[in-house]
Amino acid sequence: MDARQLKVEAARAALAHVSEGMRLGIGTGTTAEEFVRLLAEKVATGMTVIGVPTSERTALLCRELGVPLSTLEETPELDLTVDGADEVDPELTLVKGGGGALLREKIVAAASQRMIVVGDRSKKVETHS
Ligand code: A5P
Repeated sequence: MDARQLKVEAARAALAHVSEGMRLGIGTGTTAEEFVRLLAEKVATGMTVIGVPTSERTALLCRELGVPLSTLEETPELDLTVDGADEVDPELTLVKGGGGALLREKIVAAASQRMIVVGDRSKKVETHS
């Protein structure tokens, strides 16, 4: 599997936790973008969700692909946030936010009942940098 396919499969695993009517926080980065692409396919076939993006980059892709968007002002409580990891160590301690969207990522995560941080094997580290 190449690097992109690993991200797609990681994103697909997160998508399995998304169900009809959910209010979603949507993360930033290449893995989150794969999640948006898969989510958009679900939306195109009739699933109703609403997403709060953690960056303008994510918002742009959602708009392009037809994923309905909201804001935390309009939708202050979210069911689930899906985002990508920067690093994952053997104890599953995560580092997040390296892509420059940390503040919005933290605010959206705090508004969510659950968060799934997706990481493929390229994110595994022995110790954090
Ligand atoms: C954004 O601030 C970052 O935390 C990214 O979510 C993280 O780096 C994962 O990005 P990739 O999915 O592009 O590896």
